[in-house]
Amino acid sequence: MDTLLSVDKEILASRVAEIQWCHSIDLGAGIVTPGISKTKHLSDAELPEMAGKSVLDIGAWDGLNAFLAEQKGASRVVALDHYAWGVDMARRNLYWAECTEKGVFPDYRKDETEFWNDSLPGKAGFDLAREALGSKVESYVGDFMKVSPEAIGSFDVVLFLGVLYHLREPLAALEHVRALTTGVAVIETSAVYLGKNDNDGLLRFYAGNELDGDYSNYFAPTASPLNGMATAAGFSRTEIKVGPPQLRRSARRAEHPVVYRLVLHAFA
Ligand SMILES: C[S@@+](CC[C@H](N)C(=O)[O-])C[C@H]1O[C@@H](n2cnc3c(N)ncnc32)[C@H](O)[C@@H]1O
Repeated sequence: MDTLLSVDKEILASRVAEIQWCHSIDLGAGIVTPGISKTKHLSDAELPEMAGKSVLDIGAWDGLNAFLAEQKGASRVVALDHYAWGVDMARRNLYWAECTEKGVFPDYRKDETEFWNDSLPGKAGFDLAREALGSKVESYVGDFMKVSPEAIGSFDVVLFLGVLYHLREPLAALEHVRALTTGVAVIETSAVYLGKNDNDGLLRFYAGNELDGDYSNYFAPTASPLNGMATAAGFSRTEIKVGPPQLRRSARRAEHPVVYRLVLHAFA
C-alpha cells in the first residue's frame, strides 16, 4: 500500500506543520511530529507482550501508543478518545485563563457544550499519522465511561495511560477499564510519594489547576490505594512496574508530596 510518506514527503511535512501535536511520532524519513507532551513510549519492561493481542488505547490522542502497539505486532488496535479530539482547546484555554484571573474554577461541562466541535479538530494529528504510517489502527470517538464491551469489544491489553487523574470518579473509571479488559490493563498515572507516610492509602485531590496547571486533573494516589482500587474494581492481581522514586534521605523527609509517574499492571 502507498503511504502518504511514500507519495510525497514535502506535502506530509507541510500538513504536519499545520497541526498542534500532543505526541512526537516518528513518521519515517526524518519527519517527527512536534509534540508538546513530555510523554514518551513506555519502555519494553513497562509494557506487556502485545504481539498477536487485541489492544485498546484509552485516551489515545495523537495515537503514539496505539501505533506502537501495532508496530509491536498487535492483531487489532483501537484508539479511543473524546475530549482531546472534540474540544476546541484554543477557546477552552482562553476560558481557563479568564477563570484563573477571576480566581474561580471553570465549569467542566462546557467541554461538551460550548467548546465541543463535531468536526473533531483534535483528531487531525491521529488521522494524519495513521495515513502517513499506512496504519490499520481503528479509531473510536467516545467517552470510555459510556462505552460498553458490547459496543466496542473487550481486549487482551488495555492501555490507560495518563487518563486516570482526569476522571472525576476514579474507582468507577477503573471498573470501566476492568470491564473492557480480558488480559492486562496498563495503568500509568501521576502519583504522589509521601515519604514515611507513603503506605497510607491516600488519594490526593486537586480542586483547581495545581497539578501541571491543568484544571482537568483531579486526583493523584499514593501507590498503595491504586493497588487497592484496582482490586476493588475487579482486577485479580496487580504489579507495580514503576513505583515511587528513589530519593535521598533529606528528600524522603520533605514536607511536600513528591509527584511522579507510576505504572501499574492490573490483571483481569
Ligand atoms: C494526558 S492525555 C494522555 C494521552 C496519552 N494516553 C498519553 O499517555 O500520552 C489524556 C487523554 O485522555 C483523554 N480522556 C480523558 N478522559 C477521557 C474519557 N472519559 N474518555 C476518553 N478519553 C478521555 C483525553 O482526551 C486525552 O487525550
